[in-house]
Amino acid sequence: MSVIQVHDKQFTPYINADKLQARIQELAAAISNDLKGEKPLFIAILNGSFMFAADMFKYLTIEAEISFIKLASYKGMKSTGNVVQAIGLDEDLFGRTVVILEDIVDTGKTLSQFLPQLEHQQPKKLLVTSLLTKPEAMKFPIKIDYLGFSVPNKFLLGYGLDYDGLGRNLPEIYQLVENA
Ligand code: IMP
Repeated sequence: MSVIQVHDKQFTPYINADKLQARIQELAAAISNDLKGEKPLFIAILNGSFMFAADMFKYLTIEAEISFIKLASYKGMKSTGNVVQAIGLDEDLFGRTVVILEDIVDTGKTLSQFLPQLEHQQPKKLLVTSLLTKPEAMKFPIKIDYLGFSVPNKFLLGYGLDYDGLGRNLPEIYQLVENA
């Protein structure tokens, strides 16, 4: 097994590129089947989802739009803690079928804050697609409509996911080697 080093940590291969692509094709097929004729708007959340979004979008066989946004976190009122704000969301979601594309739902905090903001615009449907989720880490339960893989609560790297800025370019997913 080829262990790699990024910054001060070591990572070992976890989900190879073929397995990733096969699963993403399955998700794209399910979405294409379920949302035929709806001209959905995909909203990919940067930075982490750029690779997943690009591959997913290529495998779709229906008419669809895609928009890329960034979520900025800012300090809200004391009672709410950090609040996320979407940067770059120009589309009107009213009456649209909207599909969020996330790389990973970890605690669920990000989406638990962001989804209500989208609901506010009254889309026809609001669906969540995530390549990965860590059920043991989930603190804010999120319904994931299309899920790639459920993974243990260990830090992952590659295929868009970074460790302190690096590793996003890896074509497969690596897992942190603990106590290395
Ligand atoms: P949540 O708000 O806790 O669900 O966090 C979601 C975000 O945290 C993801 O979009 C990632 O950017 C980041 N994240 C969570 N787990 C990992 C990981 O294992 N590797 C890299 N980034 C992660």
